[in-house]
Amino acid sequence: MIAGHRGAASLAPENTLSGFQKAIDSGVKWIELDTQLSADNIPVIFHDETVDRCTNGKSKVADLTFAELTALDAGSWFSEEFAGEKIQSLAQTLAFFMANDLSMNLEIKIHHDHQVPPLIEHVAKVLEEINFPHEKLIISSFSALALVHCRKRMPSVRLGYITEHDPLPMLSQLQELNLYSMHLDHKILSEEMAKEILQAGLKLVIWTLNDLQQASKFRSWGVEMIITDKPDLFAQA
Ligand code: G3P
Ligand code: MG
Repeated sequence: MIAGHRGAASLAPENTLSGFQKAIDSGVKWIELDTQLSADNIPVIFHDETVDRCTNGKSKVADLTFAELTALDAGSWFSEEFAGEKIQSLAQTLAFFMANDLSMNLEIKIHHDHQVPPLIEHVAKVLEEINFPHEKLIISSFSALALVHCRKRMPSVRLGYITEHDPLPMLSQLQELNLYSMHLDHKILSEEMAKEILQAGLKLVIWTLNDLQQASKFRSWGVEMIITDKPDLFAQA
């Protein structure tokens, strides 16, 4: 399976509707995106701790209300073609995914541990309100603490642990979370590591692979999902 990274990060501004549309147009069924809370506790789709890189504003995301966030231009930094692109709420995005029959790898983006309890509570509420199908969802995070809170609040949701380090020493501890998948930086994955992860009963997801030449190697190692900035290239192949 191929998933568009932050939508389709090489084709459109990351984590925007245009990016999600580009991923759909590429032919992928899965999209990875990042969520965190606005100052007024609305889960929004955004990667960085600040809006500085990907909008025309300058502030921490957590310091701006949803109204303030949506007033920003989240497209021009990428290209004038996308001027006026708006930051989306998780609720808006889930509705878009349902309307387009898309599956979501929702990354819980934690910049500080104190953000975990409110973010998980508000994400869980939005998922419940929209009744997003669990079979079209994987929630993932670099934060093990976030995954602990997810497991408590959403007992049946599929959870993935994201890491850029060898996960094997932590595997038994992580298994207490009843994980579904391991989301590894493709640069650190070896065939041996892949074997051990699969033997532990976990699905293997890699990010962010943009070199198509390497895809068949990872497939042969049992990788289930490739997250890429170039869904057009990978989906065609
Ligand atoms: O979910 C995998 C990948 O997105 C993790 O890294 O920094 O792009 O969120 P990042
Ligand atoms: Mg991410």
